[in-house]
Amino acid sequence: MLKTRQLGKTGKSVTAIGLGAMPLSLANRPDEKTAIEVIRVFIDLGGNFIDTANVYCKDNSDVGHNERLIQKALKTAGKTGEIIIATKGGLRRPKGRWETDASPAWLRTSCERSLLDLDTDSIFLYQLHAPDPRVSLIESVGELLRLREEGKIQHIGLSNVNTHEILAALTIAPITSVQNRCNFLERKSFTNGVIELCVEKNITFIAHSPVGGHFDHGKLATNRTLMKLAQEHGASPYEIALAWLLASGEHILPIPGASKVSSITSSLKSMDITLSHSDFRLLNQVDI
Ligand SMILES: NC(=O)c1ccc[n+]([C@@H]2O[C@H](COP(=O)([O-])OP(=O)(O)OC[C@H]3O[C@@H](n4cnc5c(N)ncnc54)[C@H](OP(=O)(O)O)[C@@H]3O)[C@@H](O)[C@H]2O)c1
Repeated sequence: MLKTRQLGKTGKSVTAIGLGAMPLSLANRPDEKTAIEVIRVFIDLGGNFIDTANVYCKDNSDVGHNERLIQKALKTAGKTGEIIIATKGGLRRPKGRWETDASPAWLRTSCERSLLDLDTDSIFLYQLHAPDPRVSLIESVGELLRLREEGKIQHIGLSNVNTHEILAALTIAPITSVQNRCNFLERKSFTNGVIELCVEKNITFIAHSPVGGHFDHGKLATNRTLMKLAQEHGASPYEIALAWLLASGEHILPIPGASKVSSITSSLKSMDITLSHSDFRLLNQVDI
């Protein structure tokens, strides 16, 4: 039995390791056959939560690439509707740059386009990709609330937010998830109150970049503590880092990225690792 996580108060339970689909669509993406195989292997091994965004693509001309890819993979596998998809709106990709636009108009346009790209009538979890300094958060979340009332989305998530922003959003809408950067080497979410607040409010904390991120994940592979425990458990340092995140809280849902089948196969194995109390203490104490 794979470990699971409750998604906020939705009553839905998903595998404790989700697939972060972003690397399948950025500039250095794999060919489509490989990308679809990564998604297929994740599903075939029992994974059932995929994180995406309309802007996981090369640039503005390619928006929706990741969502279309996931839709195609699920359709080919005959699994449309069985896998929980969490997507996002609130950014743009002019000339491949990442720019915030969480205006109500752009959120609505993005959501309606995501419905087409995912070939669905309703998105299970729609996340505000990031607050926009030019738009009040209440206006952005207010638009997500309207999309929810219209049935276009079922649940609302936030991403890249602090505790003040979470509390502000909660004054007008139920929040199912918060997705922030969090991994063995970057533990801010454990110390700035975000994870604590998620526990208190029964919000799932989705750990993005959980093995160090698109550019920095190599640092994990050479971390001495992770290497030592990896050897003891017959695992890889990446798997120990994910097992540590899983052991850090029942409400934490890591979404490791993968553009190779071997990466997602390995990440799913982290659910089988049982860290001892002394392993966990060592991982918590390590001087990063
Ligand atoms: N909300 C946001 O602003 C935000 C920002 C960044 C990411 N995200 C989400 O979080 C997901 C994960 O972040 P990420 O992809 O940037 O970083 P990551 O999960 O830390 O992964 C980075 C890279 O590490 C490699 N990797 C992962 N697990 C591995 C394993 N078990 N063994 C060996 N190598 C492994 C993969 O390389 P290969 O590609 O070579 O397989 C992967 O592309 C994204 O896909 C996206 O869905 C959200």
